[in-house]
Amino acid sequence: MKEKILITGFNGEIGSKTLKELVKRGKSVIAMDISDAKVKIDSVSYINDSILNFELITQIFENNNITEVYHFAALLSQTAYRNPELAHDINEKASRNLIDCAYLHGANNHKLIKFFFPSSIAVYGPRKIDNASEQDIIQPTTVYGNNKLIIEQYGSKVHEKSMSENKGIDFRSIRFPGVVSYDTIPSGGTTDYVPQMIDSAKNTKKFDCKLSPETILPFIGINKTISSIIDIMDLESINSKLRVFNVQEVSFSAKKLSDFLIEKFPSFEITFKEDKNFQSVADTWPSSLNCDKANKYWNFNSEKNFESFMKDMISK
Ligand code: SER
Repeated sequence: MKEKILITGFNGEIGSKTLKELVKRGKSVIAMDISDAKVKIDSVSYINDSILNFELITQIFENNNITEVYHFAALLSQTAYRNPELAHDINEKASRNLIDCAYLHGANNHKLIKFFFPSSIAVYGPRKIDNASEQDIIQPTTVYGNNKLIIEQYGSKVHEKSMSENKGIDFRSIRFPGVVSYDTIPSGGTTDYVPQMIDSAKNTKKFDCKLSPETILPFIGINKTISSIIDIMDLESINSKLRVFNVQEVSFSAKKLSDFLIEKFPSFEITFKEDKNFQSVADTWPSSLNCDKANKYWNFNSEKNFESFMKDMISK
């Protein structure tokens, strides 16, 4: 049977670009999302359904030769905060189910299925730290952070079991900082003020920032996000028990960003109106991430500084 890749949440910011990249590389993809594709790619098999349809997920694995899974379907931090039960179902229950199905598929077919899970800086906490390493204090205070941590740990556990049996899943995960795209303006996340502020500076000229000017968070551009996912999944194997790696390109405060945008777009007006639901979350997330392990185990590196990072974002 022909080898297939399964992507969930293909309509999202990261999912849509990962799908395009995999298709460009000649892969045969089954793409699933609760919302339908705006533009369809001929070679892709689309499934328009919920990740909570466990019967359907079982059938996908039974009827196809799946070799890799990219699991992007999720609620982001602010949406999860407002809908904790749905977040538990989508972010945790459905993720566990997908890991279990992939494990069974691998075990039954005597192979290892590569499984990618996008984690987040939300697993850190309860205090803000600088240069956070993977094993630093991870006691998340948010629903979303807890969901992510539980799946990081579950995936790593099933990975260990799979390695001892030499069949099942090969779990790989990246803890993403805020992701900044130049062509999509996401909402539902705590870090989304960055793409939103950039878009406002270019277009509407007004923006209310929900975080204090001093708040510093780490970020990565969408291109580096996608290349990191492709790079970590391309490797035959990763010789490390640690399965979850930090990545980032730059860290900056909301003020540094607004000063830069006002200089480039002088009519841009910004107000800082702290919203406690956003501020209390950002205050538990690291101001920067240590990426030494990603560099050591799969050669991640970044040469961006604030200016070159922003130049890419505003020129597109
Ligand atoms: N960027 C995400 C959010 O803000 C965190 O992973 O929810």
